[in-house]
Formats: sequence, C-alpha cells, structure tokens
Amino acid sequence: MDVKNTGQERWTLKYPELGTGPVSIETAITQEQYDLERERIFKKMWLQACREDLIPNAGDYIVKDIEICDASIILIRDKEGAVRAFHNVCRHRCNKVLWDESGNCRAMTCKFHGWAYKLDGSLADVPDEDRFFDFKKEDHGLVPVAVDVWEGFVFINLDPSPKETLLEFLGELTDSLKGYPFDNLTKVFTYETEVNCNWKVVIDAFQEGYHVAYVHGKSLPDFSRDPALGHPQDVKLYERHTSFQQQSPEPGAHQTTPVEGLAFQYGVQIAGAISQVTTGDLEAQEKKSWGFMANRLFPNFFLDVLDGMYFTHEMLPLSPGKTLFRHKMYFPEAKSLSEHFSQEASKCVLRDAVLEDMSTLEHTQKGMEAGKLKAFILQDDEVVVRQFYKLVEDYTA
Ligand code: FES
Ligand SMILES: [Fe+2]
Repeated sequence: MDVKNTGQERWTLKYPELGTGPVSIETAITQEQYDLERERIFKKMWLQACREDLIPNAGDYIVKDIEICDASIILIRDKEGAVRAFHNVCRHRCNKVLWDESGNCRAMTCKFHGWAYKLDGSLADVPDEDRFFDFKKEDHGLVPVAVDVWEGFVFINLDPSPKETLLEFLGELTDSLKGYPFDNLTKVFTYETEVNCNWKVVIDAFQEGYHVAYVHGKSLPDFSRDPALGHPQDVKLYERHTSFQQQSPEPGAHQTTPVEGLAFQYGVQIAGAISQVTTGDLEAQEKKSWGFMANRLFPNFFLDVLDGMYFTHEMLPLSPGKTLFRHKMYFPEAKSLSEHFSQEASKCVLRDAVLEDMSTLEHTQKGMEAGKLKAFILQDDEVVVRQFYKLVEDYTA
C-alpha cells in the first residue's frame, strides 16, 4: 500500500455524503436508543464470535454471551468437523445446557433433568421419554443460530433468517485483508474489562489517530514529538466497515529504548509505530507496508493488522452505560526465549497503549450524560467516527 497522504488529504471530500457538520449525540446513550440498537443492529448483523482454532476437535465448545440480546450461544465443533451454533437453552424447561465458558463434551447434557443433545444439536436422549405426550425427539433439537467462518473468524447471526451471507456482509473489506497470515499467528494474549460507558464510546477510542499524540504520550512518544503522524495515511469507508492506516515515523526517526533495542531484534516492533515493516508473508503481488491497518467491522469488532502480529478489540454492550471490552493480541508461537522476550515487550507496549485508551472513556460518558452538549464537533481525520454515528443513526432511525 503506497504512502500517499501528506496530512493534507481531505477525507470528507472523498466521502461528501457524510457532510462536515456537528454529529448529534442527543440520543446516543439513552435506554430507548440501546433498545433500538439491540433490535436493529445486534439481532440482525453478523457478529464476530471467536477464532475457529479455539475449538479444533469434535465436541470442543465455547459459550458466548451476547448480553444486549439476552442470548447465550453455544459454538461447538460437530463430528463432521463443522462449527455449529445453538441457543444455550434446553428445550425441556429452558435451563442453560452448557454452563462452562468452554470445554469438550461427547454430548450436550442438561444438568436439570438430563436431556442430552448430540453435537449437531439434535435431541438424543430423554429420561422417562415414554411419560411425555405426543412426543417426538426430532421435534426438539436445540434452536440453531446462523454461523459461518471467514479467515478463521467465526461469526454468528441471531436473526433466524439472516438477510445476507457473511461474505455479503463483509463485502469489500475481505479484499484488503486477503492473504494476511491469520492462521500462523496463534499465540494469544487476552485482556478484558468492564467499562462504565456506552459501547459506542469504546468504539470511538479506536477510530482515529488524532488522540495519539496526547493520550499515548507515554507509550508511543513518536506521536507527541510529531503530532502530524496522527493523520491517517489512508482511509477506506465501505458500506458498513472501515479500513484506515496510521502513518509510521520515518525510518530512523523512532528513538529506540534500550529494552526495545534488545527485544526487537527478535520479533515484531510495535513501539516504533509500528514501524516501517514490509511483509514477505502476504500472497499479494505488490509489497505492502502494513505499518498499522485498523479495520472496524460494524458493529462492534476491530481487526488491526501489523506485519508479524495482529490484535482485536471487541465491544460487548451490557447496558446503555456499561460495556465489556475484550482485547486480544495474536503473535506467532515463540520458538526461542529471545522471541518470547520480544513478544512480551511488544505485548506490554500495546497493553499500556490500550490502557491509555481506556483512561478517557468514563469521563466521556459522564460528559455525555450531563446532557449539556448535543453534538460532537469532528475534524476531517475523525471521518471514521462520523461514518460510525451515521451508520448507527441510519439503522436505528
Ligand atoms: S430443563 Fe433441561 S432437561 Fe429439564
Ligand atoms: Fe489510542
């Protein structure tokens, strides 16, 4: 991908339909708006659920709670190797079938009265079956949920009849990530926390580089030395999703700390913003610089790729003023202690940066709740935030 932006490009000229005016936040955090987002966004769209390699073998499962939809979903590998998804509700009297967050089972057996379901969700065994009335087991399998897999990411759709396939939903975003070696990056670090703010406020923290020079003065000092680095290098707004690339410091401009100097001889360099790396792993014909490409998958998932590692953010709404934030980093398996050390160093830099991102959120929520302001005033480089609010408004209007 060519470096072409000098900081002067005007994204709002590229996307004139978004306008340049203030963005209304009047209803952004109300219960009414939250209820609309549940019905029209979270119960209708494909939602990222997990990596497929979390459940590699028959009977492996995870349970995914989508609180905003009052849904507990089982994702399980069946005997034929397919990933299936079901509502985690027993057909007898609605008990939760699987109680653990993850595990392996030969059958899904309800702890209340012992109804047992096969890995394909069909009802296999009912104690005292002959005491039920007009009862046919084949009528009482677990309620299925639409599920599909893209690049090893499992997505679910809570709509009983999804209006589009996963690939239709992802659209052009799949082109910009084609060939990225997700399958090779299997070492995972996970952080999660509950934040007292609306899910959209958490999303906003990751949709622009304008804040980087200020919020990330400690973890990414290159940006406070040169705030112009906060201008995106490229922005692509799709129908619902978004790709944007942050700039990297010029080669040699990053002031390497002694620890980085040691660590980054052996692995990916995050702090040097994520530095001017090229990739030999991509299948793409042209050499691409993956400095740092952030991808927001509407509504609530970020997939941010660098050369040699990627990370994800997931924002799961718990209430209008509370969100479960889950952050995962993916590296290659370390083959030596030095690679392990390098990954730990990168992990800590990124962890600190994400902690810094968290630091503004609850203040922003309180500021919005105070109700004194009716709109955000957005500059050109915040065009992704602008698009996001337009999308939410369009879906919930
Ligand atoms: S509620 Fe599951 S067997 Fe009764
Ligand atoms: Fe940030």
